[in-house]
Amino acid sequence: MPEPAPKKIVLGITGGIAAYKSLSLIRLFKKEGHEVRVVVTQNALQFVTPLTLEALSQNALYSDSFTRNEPYSVAHISYADWADVVVIAPATANIIGKFANGIADDALSTLLLAVKKPVFLAPAMNVNMYENEAVQRNITQLKNQGCHIIEPTEGDLACGICAKGRMEEPERIFEIITQFFSQKKKWIGKKAVVTAGPTYEPIDPVRFIGNHSSGQMGFALAEKLAKQGAEVTLITGPTALHTANNAIQRIDVVTAKEMLDKTLHYAKNANLIIMAAAVADYTPKTIASEKIKKKNDNWELSLEKTTDILLELGKRKQKNQCLVGFALETENEAENARKKMQEKNTDFMVLNSLRNSGAGFKCATNQVTIFAKNGAVFEGECKPKIEVAGEILEFVFGEFKV
Ligand code: CTP
Repeated sequence: MPEPAPKKIVLGITGGIAAYKSLSLIRLFKKEGHEVRVVVTQNALQFVTPLTLEALSQNALYSDSFTRNEPYSVAHISYADWADVVVIAPATANIIGKFANGIADDALSTLLLAVKKPVFLAPAMNVNMYENEAVQRNITQLKNQGCHIIEPTEGDLACGICAKGRMEEPERIFEIITQFFSQKKKWIGKKAVVTAGPTYEPIDPVRFIGNHSSGQMGFALAEKLAKQGAEVTLITGPTALHTANNAIQRIDVVTAKEMLDKTLHYAKNANLIIMAAAVADYTPKTIASEKIKKKNDNWELSLEKTTDILLELGKRKQKNQCLVGFALETENEAENARKKMQEKNTDFMVLNSLRNSGAGFKCATNQVTIFAKNGAVFEGECKPKIEVAGEILEFVFGEFKV
């Protein structure tokens, strides 16, 4: 077995009693041959000393945004660029809150906003603080941003009680990070097309027919695929979402017709196509060139069917091309999803149920059941959409040799 390549790790330590355990974490990383740069908050220095951190990491400590380092560079940016991964252990409620809300008022929180690499946070705090609604909301927000949360464990807390809130043991954190490094980039060399968001069908220059799709599920899939090495084209209807990942080519469309044209074009060379968009089924027969004036008590609008993009993709499906559809159902869910999979010739159908209050449109979370053409079924739990995206890709990868 070849030696694992040394990695560059930025270890952020914040002010909690578990900070002393991070000393072992530095040792574990160093023993494995990784390079470690430590960034601390001022509160962390109440628990561990600069001398210990520098001796263990064999690197200068970064604790002050206005530190000068040689040769000249802006430390929070240069550390963010340098790192392969950032690990915050322990992560207090304070740093979690700041990071989730974009606050940058010290060296570590400023660095976090500049990081484009994977970030792991190992929370440690009193159980009531951990269960606090604001803290949980911030943790969910960070998960949605793609951060990895290393859940705290149950045990004796510094406040004298035994409950959930202890930072995960350094050995386990080390294992999680090592596992992350050894993960193969499964979709490397693969071309993927993902559609997302709603479509808007114009009625006149100021009105349209649309739907509540936020685009989050499709964006999460694109993000995960890009992180796992795929070359991704994201075709999206109108949404407020942003794509920060350079590996994602984003194509903005408005109408179902535009989405059809772009999707058929980019799907030609794709290995994987995921139709997560909520495409309008009907569009106005004619678009008025001027704003339609209010006249009668009733207004009847004449609509015509749009082309079913997934059905077209199914007809054109090439050998070794994997096609994934979504089904939104409110009744006979499994039966309808399976029927759609057959009719549209997809390899997978991801069922979104609107029965679950924490799942679906506009929610940050989702719960899906995935049906594979080969008969396999995956039943997911309600999770942040970025994690659901991971589950979908994992299942697709396992059941279909793309
Ligand atoms: N879809 C599509 N083009 C359309 C309509 C839907 O490609 N014009 C795709 C969606 O992106 C999704 C799948 O078809 O992947 C299923 O969408 P859904 O709304 O659940 O089903 P429909 O086929 O539209 O049928 P119905 O609305 O009657 O349930």
